[in-house]
Amino acid sequence: MKIDLLHKPTEYMETVIILQEENGDIEKLEYLPEYLQNAINIVVKEDDFQFKYASLKSFPFIRSRKRTNVILCGIGNPKELDNDRFRHLIAISIREALKLEAKEAYIYTGFKNPLSELHFGHILAEAALLTGYRFDKYLSETKPPSLEAIHLAMELKNPRMFNRGVLEGRIFAEATNLARDLVNEPANVIYPESLAETAKKVALKYGFSIEVFGLDKIKRLKMEAFLAVGKGSKKEPRLILMSYHGNPHPKAKTIGLIGKGLTYDSGGYCLKNCQGMVNMKNDMSGAAAVIGTMAAITNLKLKVNVIGIVAACENMISGSAYHAGDIIRSMSGKTIEVVNTDAEGRLTLIDAIHYAISREHIDEVIDIATLTGAAAATFGNQISAVLANNEALLNKLQSASEFTGEKIWQLPLYEPYKELIKSEIADLKNTGGPLAGTITSALFLQEFVAGKPWIHLDIAGTALRDREQGIYSYGATGVGVRLLTQLLRELE
Ligand code: BES
Ligand code: MN
Ligand code: ZN
Repeated sequence: MKIDLLHKPTEYMETVIILQEENGDIEKLEYLPEYLQNAINIVVKEDDFQFKYASLKSFPFIRSRKRTNVILCGIGNPKELDNDRFRHLIAISIREALKLEAKEAYIYTGFKNPLSELHFGHILAEAALLTGYRFDKYLSETKPPSLEAIHLAMELKNPRMFNRGVLEGRIFAEATNLARDLVNEPANVIYPESLAETAKKVALKYGFSIEVFGLDKIKRLKMEAFLAVGKGSKKEPRLILMSYHGNPHPKAKTIGLIGKGLTYDSGGYCLKNCQGMVNMKNDMSGAAAVIGTMAAITNLKLKVNVIGIVAACENMISGSAYHAGDIIRSMSGKTIEVVNTDAEGRLTLIDAIHYAISREHIDEVIDIATLTGAAAATFGNQISAVLANNEALLNKLQSASEFTGEKIWQLPLYEPYKELIKSEIADLKNTGGPLAGTITSALFLQEFVAGKPWIHLDIAGTALRDREQGIYSYGATGVGVRLLTQLLRELE
């Protein structure tokens, strides 16, 4: 999709989007042909269209047998316009344009823009590309090609900043859409080996380093918790190690990004029901977020050092699967009583975290995982749960979240609940029972972060959408890619 600034009025326009403030006098919009301006004025008056925040109205205008689709979008009070609201406005007007099968849209703005030109460009490009995403490769009936170009008809003081923003927004959206593709692919296509192969292709394309460990190497590393989860599957596990070195300073910190990579989660012998299983191809959304983030930060050439790790496997049933009741020794040496084979994500994560700390010497740990249904029950599909042992790191994440619009909400690492994951016969058990599931899962992970600054993101609720809305289409959201990328920019 081409996104640029328009420098002269155009004779014919197939699609026109007007972003206008509420109750503002509709003055003549720059570069807008007179006949269109007049038509808009009439429709606005006749329908008493107020341009309230996120209100939409579209109508066709025909002139010399050519049709122009006009989309009016209210922005409300421009003083209340922030990144998130602006992203949403672009998303809904682009969605309307897509419904009208637009190929080329012209955007006019009738308001005083409080956003910086950098952010304006970033959010415009990001929102347009995220909204334009669809996963339709398995549909036999091909849909019409989607939006090819957006022209912003506007005089800017600093077009260079705007263009830089567009470039950044593109990088954010492209990496997010990459993660969406990985998550949307079903488990018969994406399994540990193919996930690793895809990650290799991504690494080659963007230019970060990658190494993949197979079964033998994982066994030699004694990652028995990770191995236990994958034992029941015919598909061998893979440990995917990605690294990006952007800061040559000898004292520079290394940030570890750990993504849950269950390419399928049947629940194991503590089997899920059919309804609970359908979406479990998405149980590698954390892994996809990490792979997408690696791509974005390499593309942005950030001055940070990052190790991305995914312990990829499949939680299945067979004669070789792990049992409920098994006691396993994690790579760290701590033993775990498996009281529920469906609490598998944390078993894979702790070995990945321990490996990252002991072998890759990471200084800070950020993990992202579709870990507990409880996070979805608590926060729904718009807010990710976050638990952290470090205020400073959390504050940075908070400000990243404000920029990207990916909402997060903190839950406590409440010490007394550690009682719930104590076992009589092993150091820990892998679930804390039905109460406070998101908190107890995080307390379990905390036992393996060796006191390092650490953030845990539970995206079980936010990784998927069951209908299109704003920048989201049906299926994977790509949550975490923009959030982690922005966090790493703040850590630069
Ligand atoms: N992958 C699931 C969590 C999940 C549930 C993600 C729904 C997305 C939507 C995870 O492995 C799991 O099964 N968790 C269990 C934990 C329980 C056994 C302690 C859960 O949430 O029920
Ligand atoms: Mn599970
Ligand atoms: Zn799972």
